[in-house]
Amino acid sequence: MTCYTSRSIILHWLSGGLLVFLLVTGTFVLSEIPNTVEKLGSFKVHMILGILATLVSVVRIFIIIKSPKPEALLMSPFRASMMKANHIAIYAVILAIGMSGFVLAQSAFLGQMIFFGVEKELYSSFHDFSVGVVHGFLTKVLLFLVTMHIVGVFSYTLKYQHNIIKRMWF
Ligand code: HEM
Repeated sequence: MTCYTSRSIILHWLSGGLLVFLLVTGTFVLSEIPNTVEKLGSFKVHMILGILATLVSVVRIFIIIKSPKPEALLMSPFRASMMKANHIAIYAVILAIGMSGFVLAQSAFLGQMIFFGVEKELYSSFHDFSVGVVHGFLTKVLLFLVTMHIVGVFSYTLKYQHNIIKRMWF
């Protein structure tokens, strides 16, 4: 088998798209908007997509464990261990971001306000919550890990003259 299974490929690009959207809009849009009632719509989108991205990652982890893997790539043991560590860290950090986001939303009553119409005043800053600081910090860690993931793919392609992106396509 030279490439991943169709469901692994679909989930890879679906979660990649969701994560890029959440990271970019979370950093440059959401955290820049003042915490007023008008922000609740943006929170709703972020929370729904954040929960979806976390659930997609849980499904991916199960599928990766159960599905047959494509043939191993030719590489040094050092590169192989770095690649494995990068993949494990990406999944662990996504799950931690999803959980911290959920706890943050619960602590700030966002879920009740957005989904159940409970009327409350919005907290002026989510960085007053330590779980909010953790959520923000982990998103920077994820950005770093995803960048390393992409650098690894391109450096492998150049070094071994083998376009491995094709393994993650139909
Ligand atoms: C893997 C999924 C997720 C990603 C990649 C993500 C990404 C982000 C990013 C980049 C920020 C801005 C952080 C900063 O610069 O301080 C943020 C803030 C936030 N996220 Fe998430 N998030 C995810 C899941 C969730 C979930 C599941 C929830 C809630 C159910 C959530 C709730 C929040 C809240 C309340 C903020 C604070 C926004 C603010 O400071 O105004 N996130 N998220």
